[in-house]
Amino acid sequence: MKHPHATGNESKVKKASRLSQIEPFHVMRIITRAMELQAAGVDIVNLAIGEPDFETPPLIVEAAVRALKASSMRYLPSLGTDELRAAISQWYRHRYGLDISKNRIAVTSGSSAALLLTMGVLVSPGDEILMPDPTYPCNRNFVSAMEGRSTLIPVGPDTDYQLTAELVERHWTERTVGVMIASPSNPTGSLMDADVLREIHQVVQANYGTLIVDEIYHGVTYGEQISSALEFADDVFVINSFSKYFAMTGWRLGWVVLPEAHVDDFEMLAQNLYISSPEVAQRAAVAAFHPETIKACDVNRMHYQEQRDFLLAELRTIGFKIPVDPMGAIYIYADCSKFTKDSFDFCQDLLENAGVAIAPGLDFGANRASEHVRFSYPKAIPVLAEGVRRLKEHLGC
Ligand SMILES: Cc1ncc(COP(=O)(O)O)c(C=O)c1O
Repeated sequence: MKHPHATGNESKVKKASRLSQIEPFHVMRIITRAMELQAAGVDIVNLAIGEPDFETPPLIVEAAVRALKASSMRYLPSLGTDELRAAISQWYRHRYGLDISKNRIAVTSGSSAALLLTMGVLVSPGDEILMPDPTYPCNRNFVSAMEGRSTLIPVGPDTDYQLTAELVERHWTERTVGVMIASPSNPTGSLMDADVLREIHQVVQANYGTLIVDEIYHGVTYGEQISSALEFADDVFVINSFSKYFAMTGWRLGWVVLPEAHVDDFEMLAQNLYISSPEVAQRAAVAAFHPETIKACDVNRMHYQEQRDFLLAELRTIGFKIPVDPMGAIYIYADCSKFTKDSFDFCQDLLENAGVAIAPGLDFGANRASEHVRFSYPKAIPVLAEGVRRLKEHLGC
């Protein structure tokens, strides 16, 4: 049926050309379909969405309620409240033993805004950013939004799915302005060795580029605590978020530690593009660093580890190949070539016919993407066990 206000000219209306450079988030099709099936009464084990299954810790919620009662929510300084920036600075002292001035910290609407504004500060049209393939899907689209180009560098188990200094050196061109890495990584959960990070930083520095390090899964690691890039460099953009370790995805709050020389540029973009991050979330997030909250987040981390151990062993038994144990984040990136050569088709089939939702490799790049899928495992063990039972039945294992 024709929309009552349709004019018939919709297909001729001019759109920005950059839209053709931005790819859809394929897993959203799976998630939307999973929701439709759920609404129709079908039980779905949803391992597609990349977020914690736990409630936001209570002290954060209580702080939000107090803030809502105490003040009308207003615009704030674009880089965030002084109180929260100071609390983040104190967190670096407490967690990493680092002295990071609060003046270098910008609070943003999720780390997504931090990543987008970072690209806004660094990328001119036609400039290149190097990143591993597979990588977090939105990264290449943040670059495209600024009319830059992403150079996707295929990585595999031999380098723990991470870039190396040699790969960065080999792919650097005169248009390259920076390198983006994430440790722990989404989708592989792999970590970058501190020495490799340092070597990459040296290559980037020698070429007058900028290193961007996404540390949003810090705190969700299953071994020793990993080091921050800030331990050896103050000219890197270090991205972080309240979304994952603090279980606050829907509060839309993140931060970035900026090189001193970029603080004013970043502030100017933030002022213009979204004025400030939400006040209620900022007032609440101060309680994220309370010892009681940290204790709760560390208990969650222990559960993630149990969930990872369970699902990792089961997926390997079924026949998925997972050559590197994921040592952080909340994902298992699995080679599904035993079952399919088209992972998107495979994901659709699993959803429709087995009631299990997972993400296709296609979202994360082009490197053997059709032979990989991502499982997001923050779910209670009985839910994971039911997912495994359905996979086994459907795949005949
Ligand atoms: C590696 C990585 N970076 C950034 C983000 C964006 O998260 P947010 O905007 O919620 O902080 C995500 C979300 O899944 C992610 O996996």
